[in-house]
Amino acid sequence: MLAGEMGAGVQRAMEIVFTLGRIYGAPDLVPVTHVQISGVSYKNLGDAGVEFLERWADEGARVRVPTMLNPMGMEESSWRDMGIPEEFALPQMAVVDAFVRMGVQPTLSCTPYFLPRGMPKRGDHLAWAESSAVVFANSILGAYTNREGGPGALAAAIVGRTSRYGLHLDENRVATHVIRVRARLKSIADYGALGYLVGKAVRDGVPYFEDLAEQLPLLSGDISGGGDAVDRLKTMGAAMAASGSIALYHVAGVTPEAVERGGDLLRDDLPVVEIATLDRAYAFLDRDSDVREIDLVSIGCPHASLGEIHLIADYLRGKSVHTRLWITTSRWVKRLAEEAGLGEVIREAGGKIVADTCTVVAPIETIGVHTMATNAAKAAWYAPAHSGVKVRYGSLEQCLEAAVTGLWPDG
Ligand code: F3S
Repeated sequence: MLAGEMGAGVQRAMEIVFTLGRIYGAPDLVPVTHVQISGVSYKNLGDAGVEFLERWADEGARVRVPTMLNPMGMEESSWRDMGIPEEFALPQMAVVDAFVRMGVQPTLSCTPYFLPRGMPKRGDHLAWAESSAVVFANSILGAYTNREGGPGALAAAIVGRTSRYGLHLDENRVATHVIRVRARLKSIADYGALGYLVGKAVRDGVPYFEDLAEQLPLLSGDISGGGDAVDRLKTMGAAMAASGSIALYHVAGVTPEAVERGGDLLRDDLPVVEIATLDRAYAFLDRDSDVREIDLVSIGCPHASLGEIHLIADYLRGKSVHTRLWITTSRWVKRLAEEAGLGEVIREAGGKIVADTCTVVAPIETIGVHTMATNAAKAAWYAPAHSGVKVRYGSLEQCLEAAVTGLWPDG
């Protein structure tokens, strides 16, 4: 591959994988069973990114393992209704076409673990790029993946391997900090706030939550529909990966490695981080506290599970919303929501289940959105920098109340 005997596209991919391995001192390459690629939105890629991908596809590069895509900047089936301009939509579709020509599945979701095909298992080696998916794969699935860059993940898919360093090695998966949670956690937004604080404190380390299991609902074996514990942990992990660059955490008695390796993950002299209150997180995430009128309520970062959509539909039944409400999710979960009749309830109320995209990677600034409400710490962290919007941050109930009244609720 490196000598170019399998074509220029494969050679380029192997050069990337090999160079990363040399930089990080990897002893060898490890076969991967699954790849997930980020950096799909035209908003981030620009024209240079489109040309780069088209050239790679033209060179004949094809993926060798199941490979999925992160969200792009719009929903394919409804970008005109969303108000996305053609100058954005056409190059965005060219990006997806280039990936599809290389054999990548246009799943366009940051929650590949909710998709039915080939869910990675404990011990699988992956090359995933989306930071919230990486932390979920390592922590909840017990798989092994570094936080790949977009080109690095695509290169790994093309050669079917990645370099064995970082979190592919058990010795790098031990805890660096012990976390004690004294604050009471009531909502998904609270878990996001906790993740924000832990990410700030631990940065790129591996936190070990000593006592979180006391507050966490049971984590069931089947996570594909989401549900209480899964939705809390996916939000918390996404927040940690955003405010820090955490790619793995352990929850004593809950996550697979903590259950299997127990005390082996700990050393006596680890620093202890005690989270007594979430106030500092809310002061930052809900910092635009003078904003009352909300242009867009955004739920689903990471992409909403079927369980979350059930909760939203239950709240909205018989109500109508007075501002834009987007529930962002994958095409697959949207289809399940439609089959369960939830899409109709949400549409009747005036909300919208939006697939393929999210409010961070969509160009919401071009469609008249200046203020946004969300219960997702990652969206609250990134949206202001990406789109210049002001953000209110709170529980799902507060967000849905804001959708119904158009105003952020008092108190
Ligand atoms: Fe996913 Fe977009 Fe959030 S990619 S994790 S919904 S910022």
